[in-house]
Amino acid sequence: MKIAVLNGSPKGEMSITMQYVHFIQKKFPQHELDIFNVAQRIKTIRGNDKAFQKIIDLVKSSDGVLWAFPLYVLHVHSGYKRFIELISEKGAEDVFTNKYTAVLTTSIHFFDHTAHNYMNAICDDLDMKYVGGFSAYMDDLLKEKERERLILFAETLFEAIENKTPFSKSYQPVTYRKFDYIPGNVENKIDAGDKKIVILTDSEDNQTNLGRMIERFKNSFANEIEVINLHNINIKGGCLGCVQCSYENICAYGDKDGFMEFYNTRLKPADVLVFAGAIKDRYLSSRWKLFFDRGFFYTHSPSLIGKQIGFIISGSLRQIPNLRQIFEAWTDWQHANLVDFITDEYEDSAEIDALLQSFAQRLIRFADKNYIKPATFLGVGGMKVFRDDIWGRLRFPFQADHRFYKKHGIYDFPQKDFRTRIRNWIMMFLTKIPKIRKEIYTKKLKEGMIKPLQKILED
Ligand SMILES: Cc1cc2nc3c(=O)[nH]c(=O)nc-3n(C[C@H](O)[C@H](O)[C@H](O)COP(=O)(O)O)c2cc1C
Repeated sequence: MKIAVLNGSPKGEMSITMQYVHFIQKKFPQHELDIFNVAQRIKTIRGNDKAFQKIIDLVKSSDGVLWAFPLYVLHVHSGYKRFIELISEKGAEDVFTNKYTAVLTTSIHFFDHTAHNYMNAICDDLDMKYVGGFSAYMDDLLKEKERERLILFAETLFEAIENKTPFSKSYQPVTYRKFDYIPGNVENKIDAGDKKIVILTDSEDNQTNLGRMIERFKNSFANEIEVINLHNINIKGGCLGCVQCSYENICAYGDKDGFMEFYNTRLKPADVLVFAGAIKDRYLSSRWKLFFDRGFFYTHSPSLIGKQIGFIISGSLRQIPNLRQIFEAWTDWQHANLVDFITDEYEDSAEIDALLQSFAQRLIRFADKNYIKPATFLGVGGMKVFRDDIWGRLRFPFQADHRFYKKHGIYDFPQKDFRTRIRNWIMMFLTKIPKIRKEIYTKKLKEGMIKPLQKILED
């Protein structure tokens, strides 16, 4: 059996994920797994039809496709994303139709599910037969139990192809409505005061719905609003995955391109950041993904703390809750305030005008009050994953994160909470006595939980 392995790591053969693929190759010598370094070679692939065709021919001649990639900022690497865009841009979808497929990732389990959801949905869109996903922690291959799991995963894929097993789809195709947004006049311009607002976009045409929404949003303000176009920033290439940035947050590209300077001197000083983009497949464009990946030079330390962040999106965001979750999680993790998503999914320009106006008002109001809403599970849980890994396994090489976490109290392990520990010790001792246990669990517990809160109310 022949499997096309599409490698999504920018490190190519030096990839951790590929060691998992090599393990499968060793365990199943009867099958041929042909690896193509998609993310690493994206510059050639996107500029050269022959290179793209080589991958398509590989897929065509294979019995199955294995999407094998590392997690990159809650998703796939920008180069991999670009390749996925090329499949439809070059009309190569048919080659994937009805092929058996699976996803293999390595990561630290930080929003690995959103990347898996995305790839599962892309496979469904391509009408492939999605057998399943395998999400390994980057070191799992060292463990016997995990190796056994990986063998079973690979076996499942091979057996599914051999037995022509039917598989259900998980995602509905996204439907698009054609609607031209025509902005109306702005009656009350908002005074942003001393708040610096930056709109970041990849829009290349101001006569699209996105272009018009950006213009209408800008016009909501009495002040001049800076618009930065991602196409005008000198970005030499995608994140290399080299983690040179882990020592002191300096990207390996350094001043060879303009990304760090743009991020530090134009983006970071803003109080309000509005990200404006159009949906491309089930994410924004790969240019946007490039922005998020290259922003990783701050590694696992939030770099936009306290900002007001909002999104203006053209496309069917309401049909892609996974994308919404990616942005919600990213903003929560940044310790920033996600104000809203405004989209053009309405067939009423006046309604979009009103939404953009209210969006602009809320951004300024929250910025004035320094309001950051509490993080949900996405931010709270995500931060704990980082906290534990930077404390332990990843402290070296991620020394800049370790310094940041120490300084900002992110190492908030419960072990240091001595009051709670003593209380737990006393209460656990007391509840060993049946009479006291009954009294506490039947009568005192509810009251005990609200007592400290009631004290605040009384005060
Ligand atoms: C720029 C960058 C972004 C990353 N983003 C994530 C992430 O969002 N979630 C996660 O769990 N791991 C993330 N990781 C960790 C990698 O997915 C992990 O180290 C993976 O094993 C690397 O595989 P590779 O060597 O095949 O590229 C990121 C690593 C880098 C360099």
